[in-house]
Amino acid sequence: MTDEPKDVQGAADERAELGDSEIVEARQLAEEAVEETVLPDESALAGLTGTPGIAKPDPILVADGVSRAFGGLKAVDVGHLEVQRGTITSLIGPNGAGKTTLFNVLTGFDRADSGTWSFDGRPAAGLAAHKMARRGMVRTFQLTKALTRLTVLENMKLAAVGQRGENFFNALVPPLWRPQEGGLEKRALELLDRFKLAHMRDSFAGELSGGQRKLLEMARALMVGPSMVMLDEPMAGVNPALTQSLLGHVRALRDEGMTVLFVEHDMDVVMGISDWVVCMAQGQVIAEGPPEQIRSNRTVIDAYLGTRYDEPGAKE
Ligand SMILES: Nc1ncnc2c1ncn2[C@@H]1O[C@H](COP(=O)(O)OP(=O)(O)O)[C@@H](O)[C@H]1O
Ligand SMILES: [Mg+2]
Repeated sequence: MTDEPKDVQGAADERAELGDSEIVEARQLAEEAVEETVLPDESALAGLTGTPGIAKPDPILVADGVSRAFGGLKAVDVGHLEVQRGTITSLIGPNGAGKTTLFNVLTGFDRADSGTWSFDGRPAAGLAAHKMARRGMVRTFQLTKALTRLTVLENMKLAAVGQRGENFFNALVPPLWRPQEGGLEKRALELLDRFKLAHMRDSFAGELSGGQRKLLEMARALMVGPSMVMLDEPMAGVNPALTQSLLGHVRALRDEGMTVLFVEHDMDVVMGISDWVVCMAQGQVIAEGPPEQIRSNRTVIDAYLGTRYDEPGAKE
């Protein structure tokens, strides 16, 4: 036995069964595949180190001096942040770090006290949520009580005109969506199919299981054909099997070219799925970098991970 890893040994065994010409052909195919493959954008981040605010090669979102206070408390106070296009970027940090507030401000659901930001190269500060959505930046929402009393399909249609706050009655302003209803319905059904909810189209959203609700939340966000999706704890309280399926959907978004910004607490999930990780604490970005760097970053361990991740076997 050599001490080659198993899969390499496996490949060697396979090679032994192939004729020379087949090997030449396979090599050629492999080389062509490499040439044709558009490298995932996260490769553009290779070699970047984790200084907070570091510039990215092709950022879709650039924020400067964004702050939001509640009373005397500065919930968000971000100096500079860039999110690389086409990546899954995770936002981590302790409860109360300001992650959700930052999402709300950037997507136009809350106002900033100060700061500017641009999305896809155009200034976006102060734009209302539905305008941000039209530009291609959306966030997911937990189904509100009102939405649970609508059918799954109605939820999808509303989401297309929605991102007007989760105000159910606002979103019902009919002229906004009736003219395109046919197209909307088609898109809604395609998405429901993709998220394995097509059979539930006429059920009330309130009848969905916890996991199906999460799928519907993600599907709703895609109704506007976004280029960037902000997911705030999309798998909170979901069982492990469904977590895997949700993660598959998140990866698929990235693989289709979308940018995903993702708040998540489970560090195994974060480490497994992220191209880049941003850590916030007390409103500020305290560190960012590739997952493997963040996991061993002293500042991140002190502020957030504590002993949960840096000691073998230690978990939340
Ligand atoms: N609407 C609000 N009114 C008052 N305080 C708020 C409001 N929203 C958030 N906060 C406070 O702002 C801080 C950041 O909260 P949040 O953005 O929800 O953090 P995270 O999502 O990282 O857990 C917390 O101290 C929270 O209590
Ligand atoms: Mg939050």
